[in-house]
Amino acid sequence: MILSIESSCDDSSIAITEIATKKILYHKKISQEEQHSVYGGVVPELASRLHAVALPEILKETKPYFGKLKAIAVTNQPGLGVTLLEGITMAKTLASLLDIPLIPVHHLKGHIYSLFIEKESTLPLLVLLISGGHTQVIRIECFERMEILATSMDDSVGESFDKCAKMMGLGYPGGPLIEALALKGDENRFDLPVPLRNSPLIAFSLSGLKNAVRLKVEACGGAENMREQDKADLSASFQKAVTLHLLQKSKKIFAKEPIKNFAIVGGASANTYIRNAYKTLCQTFGKTLHVAPLEYCSDNAAMIGRYALEAYEKKQFIDPNKIDIVSTKKHQSGMLL
Ligand code: KG4
Ligand code: ZN
Repeated sequence: MILSIESSCDDSSIAITEIATKKILYHKKISQEEQHSVYGGVVPELASRLHAVALPEILKETKPYFGKLKAIAVTNQPGLGVTLLEGITMAKTLASLLDIPLIPVHHLKGHIYSLFIEKESTLPLLVLLISGGHTQVIRIECFERMEILATSMDDSVGESFDKCAKMMGLGYPGGPLIEALALKGDENRFDLPVPLRNSPLIAFSLSGLKNAVRLKVEACGGAENMREQDKADLSASFQKAVTLHLLQKSKKIFAKEPIKNFAIVGGASANTYIRNAYKTLCQTFGKTLHVAPLEYCSDNAAMIGRYALEAYEKKQFIDPNKIDIVSTKKHQSGMLL
């Protein structure tokens, strides 16, 4: 069995995965959304302190498995330095005490492998990763070759939902709140720009759209003067503009990439409006759409464990004294390393 740990942002999570069957034998996640909600976003130092309490609490429950563990896996990049450190410290200690190998896991690769939890992988694959930290299209030829084809030049999709929700005084995380409110709104009421609409660039940008939402909030007299219907209409209009942007750039990629399997992963891939839009797009382009079960879209240790199964087979271990913490890198291109 492999014990995996995730603490790259505001979720403390541990999973136990059986190597032979890929089955999840144990999985628990303690989210900190409520504690960060008052601030409208994640406060790194608070997150780190909450991980320091939650991770040992979860770990206690996994003690019965300790005798059967063959490796410890942990997210070491990218993420918030102070929160990654909590998971890594625990992982190093466990690996040393139990005298078993340590597997470092790239968080974004974990999101990709959320598609294959308790299953075989379907490669090659094109992936749209939309999370709180990243917005990227990645071509996965095999486990060793993951190439970034497009990335956001500024904010990520999840971040833009969070910030727009904050502007409207909705709370955190913004994604689910905006999606729920949008169901009651008119997506054509507010005229918002579709980012990079006339640009040939195959890239994403969300900061201009976020600013356009800010101007609409101001035009309504600020969040405190917005009616519930105004917020619902603005949420729906914003969600539509983000989706049109993603679709427009994805179409350009689809036209060039013959790979048949396409997937959406990351926290924002839980969004039904975005999922439905991609269902239609994939039908038009003859691609098969894959998504992870809802419970594995946002950060979790089960996806870290699933990736670790592959890494374990390839003996991709690291000396506990040499594991690096790599914080969020936004403007990435080339191979996902
Ligand atoms: O993957 P994730 O849990 O963490 C990162 O790796 O960043 O993604 C969290 C992000 C948050 O920004 C959250 O607002 C967004 O995913 N999110 C959504 C939805 N559910 C979560 N965005 C849009 N629609 C949703 N239903
Ligand atoms: Zn994530």
